[in-house]
Amino acid sequence: MCHTGARPRLPRSSCLHCSSVPACRLPQGPGTNMAPKRPACTLDPEDIKQLLLSSQEAKKLAYCPYSHFPVGAALLTSQGKVFSGCNIENASYPLTICAERTAIQKAVSEGYKDFRAMAVASDVQDDFVSPCGACRQVMREFGTNWAVYMAKPDGTYMVKTVEELLPNSFGPDDLQKPK
Ligand code: THU
Repeated sequence: MCHTGARPRLPRSSCLHCSSVPACRLPQGPGTNMAPKRPACTLDPEDIKQLLLSSQEAKKLAYCPYSHFPVGAALLTSQGKVFSGCNIENASYPLTICAERTAIQKAVSEGYKDFRAMAVASDVQDDFVSPCGACRQVMREFGTNWAVYMAKPDGTYMVKTVEELLPNSFGPDDLQKPK
């Protein structure tokens, strides 16, 4: 369902990137009539909705007795399988793992490494939850050209590719470069 140039099936009035038009923060072209840069992989609206719902469900299982900041993630593989994850905190605070990394580790440990998209949910009402730097780097390990849907509890979201979240990143290919 990755689009290959075709526009995603969204209402004409909607932003191509997010369902919350004023909040879309994707880079715009310099001219006002330039289309914004689209993610390489955009899901059908129904698939987006399901992924967002899965991330909200995952959030209910968050173990966050210290921060009281529950986060849920739902990771869609290229094979169509969804792995969920929540943040899991620890009394030794730095051992906390974020929802995004929980989902990725579950997927990889089950043999899935090709990802199409991830949805992330938090309880923050007025802003889209944004993955931390560590999670961005772990996402990037498995490609730069897949989509991250960052949602509000009301289901509105902002979507960016991993490349957009972590530009000019260091990845597996860099280790192969001549030294
Ligand atoms: N957290 C996530 O799970 N994902 C994010 O994108 C942001 C932060 C968690 C880590 C910690 O358990 C809590 O939120 C507060 O930082």
